[in-house]
Amino acid sequence: MANTLPRFSKADVHNKTVLMRVDLNVPLQNGSILSTNRFEAIIPTLKELINYQAKIVLLAHLGRPQGKPDPSLSLKTIVEPLSNILDHHISFCEETIGDKAQKAIKVLKPGDILLLENLRFQGGEEKNTAKFSKDLANLGEVYINDAFAVSHRAHASVVGITKHISSFAGPLLQKEMKHLAPIFSPETSPTMAIVGGSKISTKINLLEGLLKKVKTLAIGGGIANTFLLAQGYKIGHSLCEKNQVSTALRLIKMAEKENCNLILPLDVQVSRDLSPNSEVNHVALDDIQESESIFDVGPQTTESIESAIERCKTVIWNGPLGLFEHQPFDRSSLQIAQNIAHLTRHGRLNSIAGGGETIAVIKRACVAEQFTYLSTGGGAFLEYIESHNLPGINALTK
Ligand code: 3PG
Repeated sequence: MANTLPRFSKADVHNKTVLMRVDLNVPLQNGSILSTNRFEAIIPTLKELINYQAKIVLLAHLGRPQGKPDPSLSLKTIVEPLSNILDHHISFCEETIGDKAQKAIKVLKPGDILLLENLRFQGGEEKNTAKFSKDLANLGEVYINDAFAVSHRAHASVVGITKHISSFAGPLLQKEMKHLAPIFSPETSPTMAIVGGSKISTKINLLEGLLKKVKTLAIGGGIANTFLLAQGYKIGHSLCEKNQVSTALRLIKMAEKENCNLILPLDVQVSRDLSPNSEVNHVALDDIQESESIFDVGPQTTESIESAIERCKTVIWNGPLGLFEHQPFDRSSLQIAQNIAHLTRHGRLNSIAGGGETIAVIKRACVAEQFTYLSTGGGAFLEYIESHNLPGINALTK
């Protein structure tokens, strides 16, 4: 797929107004940016366009403002940090389309960068209306999608716009495809998937799809608790979805039918709560007390995951195995990250991870550079793994 995506050359962008869709949707807490991974990922593209003397107009979203302006989700917050990382001035327009945006674009010189206000302040973006798609396209001469992380959304700036302007795949999008498209091909198999996170309900399709394609599926995090409940274990106060017990049972049966080795927790780390003074215990599944909650998988489970990884050529990972934000419940995830990195470093494993929390835990283990590839996608990563089919990418290949 990566090879079939239209790539721009210098001639396509030189001296032209280039509208580039990027994903600047970074996690924020009280106005501060918690991770700049997505900024760093587009720096090479921006440098290439500056080098080619394009007039760069960035199209992006932040959060889910539901088609209305919301000052707390203004992209203005992003300008300075992005500009610092790039070490290049970036100007900002407080409108996405309209007169002000047009004027701000008109004064751009080759190599300049302008960021337009949050696309999702406009109702037409998520509805992918023809009008908003055209309004956007009219702002420039060339369109580039370099936002793999939002390519699972059939939005105007991702899909609709491509009908009205000559469109290309950006280098980051190409890179994502280069690493993700071969997953499940005979060359990269057998594959193992590790899936964590809190809710089974958000990952049913992914889990179903994976069970049919991977040799081993290891499940951790809150998702695993629902499986343990389905298996009849008493899980105390652990996070779980009681209404998904039948889904968990169905998935267990499906794994048997598909001959997929399903690894569920064999032992767990529990505590009464997350306060630093609370005792943390390593227990067997039968020994979880009514007052306790599971916050991580135990060493026996970690070992079983590690030995399954050894037998695979590719591992895909989405979702930490424990509540990694709270030590010591990051232990299993850190150990798995280090193990995967070690095997990758020695050329024995192709390792792909995606999702903000997974990347955060890999970074905490200080092994980010050693993974084969860390995707910038969260939902897009999951949807691509599930179906190898994203509307934003299809729009570029038509
Ligand atoms: C993401 O953060 O995964 C992307 O930016 C998509 O955001 P969304 O889930 O709000 O569409």
